[in-house]
Amino acid sequence: MLGAIYMDRRMTKHEFSNENLQFLRAFTNQAAVAIQNAQLFTNLENENKKLRDTISQKMLFPEIIGDSTPMQRIFDMITNVAPTTATVLIEGESGTGKELIARAIHTNSPRKEKPFIPIFCGSLSENLLESELFGHKKGAFTGANEHRAGLFEEADGGTVFLDEIGEISQNMQTKLLRVIQEGEIKRVGDTTIRKVDVRILSATNRTLEEEVKQGNFREDLFYRLNVITLQMPPLRQRGTDILLLAEHFLTHYALKNKKNFHGFSAEARSYLRDYGWPGNVRELENTVERAVILCNDPVIGPDVFQLHSAEHKIPLGKSLKEINRYAIKQTLKLADGNRTKAAQILDVSRRWLQYQLKELGMTDADQES
Ligand SMILES: Nc1ncnc2c1ncn2[C@@H]1O[C@H](COP(=O)(O)OP(=O)(O)O)[C@@H](O)[C@H]1O
Ligand SMILES: [Mg+2]
Repeated sequence: MLGAIYMDRRMTKHEFSNENLQFLRAFTNQAAVAIQNAQLFTNLENENKKLRDTISQKMLFPEIIGDSTPMQRIFDMITNVAPTTATVLIEGESGTGKELIARAIHTNSPRKEKPFIPIFCGSLSENLLESELFGHKKGAFTGANEHRAGLFEEADGGTVFLDEIGEISQNMQTKLLRVIQEGEIKRVGDTTIRKVDVRILSATNRTLEEEVKQGNFREDLFYRLNVITLQMPPLRQRGTDILLLAEHFLTHYALKNKKNFHGFSAEARSYLRDYGWPGNVRELENTVERAVILCNDPVIGPDVFQLHSAEHKIPLGKSLKEINRYAIKQTLKLADGNRTKAAQILDVSRRWLQYQLKELGMTDADQES
């Protein structure tokens, strides 16, 4: 039943005739077909639009894996902001893909032929960061033997990505505000003012608004950086994306390590789905890479993920030497005593591992315990 037709008469009080009924029957049959066609057509149109959206997303962001609703929202936002010059603040836990998103915004913008320069604000001292960003004049400080352009000058016409923006000092905040407001920089020790045209994207794993409230971050800079906010969803809220990502990394690392796998076993899949992923996509990626190195069966089972279990927590409150010793010992155990594999997992050379074993006085008996 698609609907009903109601007939009424305002003028005469006579009843409706059989003839009227026949006419109505014929009419409703025709109308029903027309309505049904129209509905089918609308459905097809919607479905078509959805498919086209997914395909164009896949083409715009081929390196970003994710079909979940929160990721669809991110894709929509990037599509809208990429072509503009608006500053974008990307908030999210560590390993949720903030840098990946920043790169996608740049490569989908009219600036894509110009440089994309990521700057990690957390690691450098204030003086170093200032000279990194703005450059310096020869003789500005000890060691400044040459005139040097900073990253903002190098990025001219392109995009600067300020990673961990929450870490910068008040003094640097003031200088950044000037770049954003006036498009001007001054090299350290220099008086010349230079014009630069850069788009600024930034990222933080803190809640910057909270830092503003605490008085740690300039409010005016916050609003300048934050024309658009992207909130990266943690992996645990991304449902089916976990398995999509795991399979993506499996293909990638299997190829890299010249190994062949059929996929994950049912138990491995439910392990991956149910684990909490505190380290997000980066942790998932490392986990799959490790599984690829360690697993020699065509189907990856859950046992190669054992490294996550509580008994393998790093023993904090001990000397670095002891922690080092513990880490090497456990990794060797995981690699069944195979030193080449252990070195691969630790991302060090086999020689370095041999050296460490000797240095730590670890005998073969030690490794077995
Ligand atoms: N949606 C995603 N699809 C594919 N790889 C991803 C995705 N999100 C993150 N990654 C990968 O996970 C790692 C961490 O991402 P990154 O952008 O450095 O995170 P963050 O900057 O938030 O710490 C990188 O190797 C990145 O390529
Ligand atoms: Mg990062």
